[in-house]
Amino acid sequence: MEYANPQIKQVAEQLRGRLPNLQNKEEIFKAVELKALFDGIKTLPADERAEYGRELNGLKKELQALVEEAAGSELPTLESIDVTAPFDINTPLNQHPQLLTSDTGSKHPLTTEMEHVLDIFYRMGFNAIESREIDDDYHMFTSLNFPEGHPARDDYDTFSTDEGLIAPAHTSSMQNRILKMGKDNLDHDETIAYVIPGRVFRNEDLDARHEHTFYQIEGLYVGKGVHAGNLIATLKTFLQEYYDKELDVKTQPFYFPFTEPSFEFALSCPFCNKEGCSICGHSGWIELLGCGMIHPNVLREAGIDPLKYSGFAWGMGVDRLVMMKYDIEDIRNFESANLAFLRQFS
Ligand code: DAH
Repeated sequence: MEYANPQIKQVAEQLRGRLPNLQNKEEIFKAVELKALFDGIKTLPADERAEYGRELNGLKKELQALVEEAAGSELPTLESIDVTAPFDINTPLNQHPQLLTSDTGSKHPLTTEMEHVLDIFYRMGFNAIESREIDDDYHMFTSLNFPEGHPARDDYDTFSTDEGLIAPAHTSSMQNRILKMGKDNLDHDETIAYVIPGRVFRNEDLDARHEHTFYQIEGLYVGKGVHAGNLIATLKTFLQEYYDKELDVKTQPFYFPFTEPSFEFALSCPFCNKEGCSICGHSGWIELLGCGMIHPNVLREAGIDPLKYSGFAWGMGVDRLVMMKYDIEDIRNFESANLAFLRQFS
């Protein structure tokens, strides 16, 4: 609306100009001294009052509309960060004017969930060791019973350097190290019980279900007389604790060079209790991880006698586990640095 009265026009222009800096209703109301303008009516000659009053009411309406708009969008505004500002490590973070204060940040959802998963396994008797982010052919493949030229090597779409170093495509590349480390304990009637969280990498075509960088948790358990029933009970116990729900599980035969027998492990969908829903693709089941009884060649390669000891192993995708828990549709959210996504978990 255009105003003829110079006083009202000036107030309206000031108000519009300042709006981006006014953050809430109170500030907007304070910015206009409506009462003083209304009081001004009395001082005008009688024939100008009608026109003045009409304009003043127009201004009041404009103001009310702005207030309503602001009420609907009262979001905190972030101050911009000067990324070039010198950083003084002796000043506490929350006193650094250029930085986000420490209470503005939060843990990444994968970190929080990883800690939860490891805590459950810790209470079940498993210790944790982190996997490496750079490895070699021996640990990624050969020690896991993939001889050179084995076709299953191609399934892993590994990134590697000209020198032959490998960005591990699974946390199983830690198996040989953990088995060697724990083998002496077996002769003292102890077991090897480890979970190995880590970041893994694959040269994949990216989509809502595939990322080049994702997280896995490997599990290893070796002792005397360990059998597939122990494997299934361990995973079922973990999953029921993690999803805080009674679940059914089932295994299907599968193939991995490093386990025999190998299984694909599925759980009844925690969202629909096997009724069928969009999350489980209307099948009632969700295939979650690969697992099996550790292949005798893998034990032997680490110096463990497969006639005396047996064990099970599994590898599960943490992203998938968390996506299911919170109904997250796109795995790419995790590595996106999308604050709107991340803040939902703070
Ligand atoms: N490393 C496998 C993968 O990433 C998953 C896996 C399967 C791990 C079976 C295991 C296992 O330890 O026993 O595809």
